[in-house]
Amino acid sequence: MRILSGIQPSGKLHLGNYFGMMEPALELQEKGEAYLFIADYHALTTVNNPEQLRKAIIDVAVDFLACGLDSNKTVFFRQSDVPEVTELMWLLSIVTPMGLLERCHSYKDKIAKGISPNHGLFAYPVLMAADILAYQSNIVPVGKDQKQHVEVTRDIAIKFNNQYGEVFTIPEPFIRDEVAVVPGIDGQKMSKSYDNHIELFGDENVIKSRIMKIVTDSTPLEKPKDPDKCNVFALYKLFAEPDEINKMRERYLAGGFGYGEAKKALFEKIREKLSPFRKKREELIKNIDFVYEVLRKGGQKAREEASLTLAKARKVVGLD
Ligand code: TRP
Repeated sequence: MRILSGIQPSGKLHLGNYFGMMEPALELQEKGEAYLFIADYHALTTVNNPEQLRKAIIDVAVDFLACGLDSNKTVFFRQSDVPEVTELMWLLSIVTPMGLLERCHSYKDKIAKGISPNHGLFAYPVLMAADILAYQSNIVPVGKDQKQHVEVTRDIAIKFNNQYGEVFTIPEPFIRDEVAVVPGIDGQKMSKSYDNHIELFGDENVIKSRIMKIVTDSTPLEKPKDPDKCNVFALYKLFAEPDEINKMRERYLAGGFGYGEAKKALFEKIREKLSPFRKKREELIKNIDFVYEVLRKGGQKAREEASLTLAKARKVVGLD
């Protein structure tokens, strides 16, 4: 079973990225042949500062390796080290109806936010389809917001296969329901664009002050509180073990337990969980050549795979 996912190097990673995409991807490396790439071509639709992009690419590579990506199990690479995907994208564009792309929420959201639409933004899902199909992926672990893009990929692949013959494996999205939406400090989905995020490797004092700002209701300290309506509890659940979660739930329900205390408990949990990752990350930063070497090797392997698929696609459309 081949599992593939990509992450945009659009800046520092936050807890929403970790639970929505990284952790599921890292778990799946135990379950199949995992391919994971840094979507730098995609990032160009939003990052237009070259230095910033270069830095973001290496940062995200370091962060993934720090969080447990095992380069012996996972093919870890940069999207742009496989230029074949851009050619494949063109071949897929031929069978992609405009209406399919016009319906994409992510595109519509970006337009609604005032981003001026360019062709890259519009064609974004077709490039994503090329990423997924180039490696004949079976499973694509993504956050809920990317589910539609995987469905678009399926539509494109089915259409291409029907029209030209069986070239592509039809992929399935993989979304862990319980963690698909990680709340930010204001209770909306955690996202850098809402500035409600908590960084994965941020300064601990900053993390703490962000946690202290998590929005809670005004239930007085002595009153029982509903854990299932609380953003602090929602985040705590992601980090804690089942028995710790139950204990925390009881404290909420019993009353006499304030949100301030809950926030402190959340901070401690986060610190505990992330501290081994931080240590690993410091080692990697001292040994950055290793990180470049992992990406180079991964790129080579990925390119071999993508070339096989591209050769088939070129042939069936009549280019070869
Ligand atoms: N669009 C994805 C995101 O922003 C990143 C991505 C690009 C991706 N290509 C992909 C994810 C292929 C999964 C499969 O999160």
